[in-house]
Amino acid sequence: MPVDRSSLSRRLLLAGAGAGLFSGASAQTPPRSGLSGIAARHGVLFGAAIEPDTVDSDPAFAALLARECASLTAENHMKWNMLRPGPGRFEFEGADRVVAIARRQGAMVHGHCLVWHEANPAWLVRELTTGNAQALLEGHIGAVAGRYAGLIRSWDVVNEAIERNDRRPDGLRKSLWLNVLGPDYIPLAFEAAHRADPGARLLLSDYGLEYDDEPWMVEKRETLLELLAGWKRSGAPIHALGIQGHLIGHRPASFGPALRKFLRDVSSLGLGIDITELDVNDQNLHGSAAHRDRIVAQHYRAFLQVALSEPAVRAVTTWGLSDRYTSKSSMSARSDGTGVRPLPFDQSLQPKQAWFAMADAFAQRQHPEKTRN
Ligand code: XIL
Repeated sequence: MPVDRSSLSRRLLLAGAGAGLFSGASAQTPPRSGLSGIAARHGVLFGAAIEPDTVDSDPAFAALLARECASLTAENHMKWNMLRPGPGRFEFEGADRVVAIARRQGAMVHGHCLVWHEANPAWLVRELTTGNAQALLEGHIGAVAGRYAGLIRSWDVVNEAIERNDRRPDGLRKSLWLNVLGPDYIPLAFEAAHRADPGARLLLSDYGLEYDDEPWMVEKRETLLELLAGWKRSGAPIHALGIQGHLIGHRPASFGPALRKFLRDVSSLGLGIDITELDVNDQNLHGSAAHRDRIVAQHYRAFLQVALSEPAVRAVTTWGLSDRYTSKSSMSARSDGTGVRPLPFDQSLQPKQAWFAMADAFAQRQHPEKTRN
């Protein structure tokens, strides 16, 4: 699939994305405001995941996003089911809009995601064989990461690849890609992404790594460390771990020494760490909105205080920015019929306690560049 970069460039320009799109240089950005400004002064890139429709149809939300975020992630529009209507066919309209919005707002882009066991088109599930898998995987990654090369800071190359319940000795998830390519699909994907965009920071991202009091998560950390060490030893171009950070408001906020040690161990492998999908699920919290907001804020604070104490953590993305637009409304709706409140801004786009908790956590972080000897 040839990538028509000149027409992409034209469309991004029409979308107001500015000049120098393929120079590899990041957009000229004024000093940042909002959460991203506070985070930047402490060595952290802050951003959020978006759906382009909500930004394009809601100027107040777009303005909030521009003020608060130095990085944007496509919540859905870079997944296979959105990009690949058929074999050999690509539909980049939605993904291009996300990149254009980011450029317009002077924000970086985090790409999500090149390989996942979910959100795959029916034709892929039907047609994938051991004979065509490597070409399909490499063709997709080459076309997608190649199209946006120089425009994307980082990619979730492989998403959610570890599942200990699948009972493989190596801990890898039994996914459609593993079925046809075996464990090699992971280094193959990273190599393809690196070839397509040598400047991008390449992540393996996963959930279930956050809580110290949850045995399966503690075990998953161990499994992941072994796998990461192996891939690093074999020279796979993996640059960072993505920790999703979907937190659960009704659990104890058990982010303590074991999480800190895990982050240290990941960093010792020579890897960076990004928090890629942070939010706090308040589906099962009782009480008034104000009470729930207090608990949600405590979770943001407790998690970020530990995460940001590790210098390797360089970026934090929330999975949405305002409760006005969150997939939790449908995926984790509350039984009392009141709206979910998982994000730093409420439905009226006002900052909640979560915003202030995050701001405090960023402000308390020692800037790694400034403290390095
Ligand atoms: C979710 C989106 O938020 C939803 O809109 C969509 O319906 C399903 O996917 N882990 C991931 C994300 O890596 O891609 C998921 O996003 C949330 C869980």
